[in-house]
Amino acid sequence: MTSTAAVSQKSTTPLRGTVRAPGDKSVSHRAMIFGAMATGTTTVAGLLEGADIMSTADAMRAFGADITKDKDGVWHVVGCKDGFQSPKHAVDCGNAGTGVRLIMGAAAGYKVSATFTGDASLTSRPMGRVLDPLREMGAAFDVAPGDRLPVTLKAGAALTAIDYTPPHASAQVKSCILLAGLNAAGTTAITEPTLTRDHTENMLKAFGVKLTAAKRGDGQVVRMDGGQTLKATHVIVPGDPSSAAFLIVAALITPGSDIIIENVMMNPTRTGLFETLTEMGGYLRSDNFRTSGGEIIADIHVKHSPLHGVTVPPHRAPAMIDEYPILAVAAAFAKGRTVMDGIGELRVKESDRIAATEALLSSNGVNITSHESGMTVIGGDTPRGGAVVKTHHDHRIAMSALILGLGCDAPVRIDDASMIATSFPSFFDIMTRLGAVIETSA
Ligand code: S3P
Repeated sequence: MTSTAAVSQKSTTPLRGTVRAPGDKSVSHRAMIFGAMATGTTTVAGLLEGADIMSTADAMRAFGADITKDKDGVWHVVGCKDGFQSPKHAVDCGNAGTGVRLIMGAAAGYKVSATFTGDASLTSRPMGRVLDPLREMGAAFDVAPGDRLPVTLKAGAALTAIDYTPPHASAQVKSCILLAGLNAAGTTAITEPTLTRDHTENMLKAFGVKLTAAKRGDGQVVRMDGGQTLKATHVIVPGDPSSAAFLIVAALITPGSDIIIENVMMNPTRTGLFETLTEMGGYLRSDNFRTSGGEIIADIHVKHSPLHGVTVPPHRAPAMIDEYPILAVAAAFAKGRTVMDGIGELRVKESDRIAATEALLSSNGVNITSHESGMTVIGGDTPRGGAVVKTHHDHRIAMSALILGLGCDAPVRIDDASMIATSFPSFFDIMTRLGAVIETSA
């Protein structure tokens, strides 16, 4: 992707209007991958057409799926006829950690060989967290020291199910193992001390797979027998709460704002930020609850609100893991101290998000400190702004910086807006429609 700078200005008018959240990234990846693994044709409505999902769709085509979009915007995924086939070229997963980690798990079960790679951000992220359990199941890989991409899966190994407790709270790791477990001998069991997003469990059931998820403390134990086939289904992708987060914080910090975001997924494994912003004094009201595609969705009404700092309980982290950068932006406008701890996982996202968030806020005049697994913001005064923020190929850092600029005295610039298209291609359109002044520039 070619880089494009962008800048946001202090909002002098309120944000107003009703908008629709873009399709959920996690659910969209899974719809493409599960559809490719299934027998028959899966149809997907409301797919997030972001660059990450297009990388996953291309990867599924490389393994043998046929994927097209019809004139009504519905995607059709014709599953690989005899399981995944070895791709003819390296599989480039772009910027998508979820894509590559889930696909490596799925592919490992099919005795194919494949080389996986990605962009500068993805090739610097740790893959050992999925390669280790896959090796335990019997998969073999050629990989450079440090377990980074590119990774080559070697053909031939039959997998055996494992009983695994991931060392990190990670839905990607859980999902990778479950997808490999579908083609492994025996029963795969995964113990999660803290529950992470459960879209894989929900969607596997929708594809006809039998599994059990038994609550245990704050977490669960998932069990699934190998040798099950997925049957094509119709997937309706709900709106992404992690994208809605940027719109919500924009409205909370812009005086006079009053917006409605429709179609937001309210799965409790994803709504930690909404709870936290409400505790901070934010006006967030969800209504029109309904079920669509097996997920609860609602419309969220947000109004500008005076915010105050809070301590975010660390056990809430998995339910808002991608939202800490934008929460830190909200905290810059909240009176007092906001403490975010137990978030060491942020160091290995698309960028080191603790370091990137600290740099984005401190360079614009906000008081923030950090340590290995946490950060604290002392907010309440109007931030100075005026900095050019380095986004490190990270869409969420890019959008967080632009939202910060809506409340700063001087405009906030970012060095590169291109990655925003990985998760929220309509970000600029929607923000402009709500009345924000955010522009890309050469
Ligand atoms: C995701 C899981 C999370 C999250 C990522 C999407 C998923 O990652 O940060 O954006 O769809 O399973 P981890 O599993 O590494 O926490």
